[in-house]
Amino acid sequence: MAAGIDDIAIYVPELYVDTNDFAKARDVDIDKLQKGLGIYQMAMVDNNQDPACLAANAALKIMKRNDISPGDVGRLYISTESSFDESKAMNAYIIGMLEQIYGDGTFAHCGGVETKFACVSGSYALYDNVNWIRAGEADGSYALVVVSDIAKYELGSSGEMTQGAGAVAMLLNDTPRLLSFDPRVTATSIRDEYDFYRPFGKDTPIVHGQYSNILYLIQVRKALELYKEKVLSTGLIKLRSDETILDHIDYLNMHLPYSAMGRKALAYLVRHEWRQLPRWRGIVERMGMEEPLPDDAPGTIEAMLKDPDFIKKDGAFNHRLMETPEFVDIYEKKLASSLVASRMIGNLYTASLYLGFRSSLEYEHRKGIDLAGKRVGFGSYGSGSSAMVFSGVILDRYKEVLKNMHFQSDIEKRRKLTLEEYEMLHRGQMPVSEAILPGAEGFVLSDVDKTNGERSYVYNP
Ligand code: HMG
Repeated sequence: MAAGIDDIAIYVPELYVDTNDFAKARDVDIDKLQKGLGIYQMAMVDNNQDPACLAANAALKIMKRNDISPGDVGRLYISTESSFDESKAMNAYIIGMLEQIYGDGTFAHCGGVETKFACVSGSYALYDNVNWIRAGEADGSYALVVVSDIAKYELGSSGEMTQGAGAVAMLLNDTPRLLSFDPRVTATSIRDEYDFYRPFGKDTPIVHGQYSNILYLIQVRKALELYKEKVLSTGLIKLRSDETILDHIDYLNMHLPYSAMGRKALAYLVRHEWRQLPRWRGIVERMGMEEPLPDDAPGTIEAMLKDPDFIKKDGAFNHRLMETPEFVDIYEKKLASSLVASRMIGNLYTASLYLGFRSSLEYEHRKGIDLAGKRVGFGSYGSGSSAMVFSGVILDRYKEVLKNMHFQSDIEKRRKLTLEEYEMLHRGQMPVSEAILPGAEGFVLSDVDKTNGERSYVYNP
């Protein structure tokens, strides 16, 4: 049975920080932010918004747009790493908000859970729900998977320049219009790690930034290796001797903690895939630098970390590779469009990969390319750490969905925060009743009870 994404909708909060202001305030070179990391603006939540109301806004948007009633939705899953409750799952909050619109008890049948594994948990939720549909359990109904996060780092930390906030809602079913997932090829890699984590009671993570970058690259590559084995053994893809798996993936979407990470990850995967091809020797010769390869265990985290000099040389080689016409070609054709939205929004943790997918669809469509039949690869990464690689094919009816996508109008109403306002919001110094945009459209928090922590939400039409 086919299963895939029927529609995808984003919710972006109406406030943002501009990196020109941020760079001045933190005395960071603006080129590091914009050229080095690829960040121009970072979306911020108002004082009366939490990840549950971002998620409910994205869910309501997709339901209204498709004229869906609660009875049509069989499961509602939420994936987040910005949870505010150790026990009550966030999907219960979302259902509470949606029932303000659709009526009390209208979602009573609609089970689901909140899933957690840093940024990769949305991909696990998607996979589980796709399999629920494939198993015939959905009985024609939709699964609604929402990924929602507030990426918040300590003030003054190096992670602070990679913040963002927002939610993506994905409607899944057995007759999708947008994308059908390839069966039996989803591949994962997992290992107990401390690259980025948020112990109980802390509202910002503990981050080993450079280590997290390297782990991301290695875990995604390992998952890609397994994906490759699966697509070859299932016969989904057949490789000629002068080809790699990347030749059979028309578009790549990577997890985007900042947009430049997508490009860096593509370069790393390209190196590992192209190294075995006849074309590689010529590219390396033209680059004028031999590829640094640790002798004992190429590509393992142990081999890389024990030699800082190696990491430096490896980075320099990657930079040179990114300037070659061969890399620029694959980057422009397969990845560049997925980075557009991330530059203006920042890290959305669980939602970053799917914001990238949504961005790729819209900006590739605008080039006038017929997307039907194109294979899309996904490289999902979550700290702690796990990666998932999977793929799908764009379907003939995709244009019916794409006509609703206008990223510029999704962000045009946003208001720029001053650095003082941003820091005040970050420190949580204002009561919920004192939002920067008190009447903003959609679900917002109206109260958090000081004695028992109960949250109340209202809908502003
Ligand atoms: P940093 O160490 O201060 O930055 O923080 P840097 O020195 O690595 O510089 C960043 C880039 O800017 C480099 O590019 C520099 O060369 C360049 P690269 O060499 O890597 O290609 N640069 C410049 N370019 C032009 N002009 C200049 C200039 N100066 C420097 N003047 C870091 C960067 C990402 C480590 C930090 O922001 C951080 O810790 N962020 C949070 C952690 C993170 O985002 N990690 C990413 C991988 S882990 C992940 O994705 C999971 C995550 O989403 C969480 C989850 O799973 O839940 C984070």
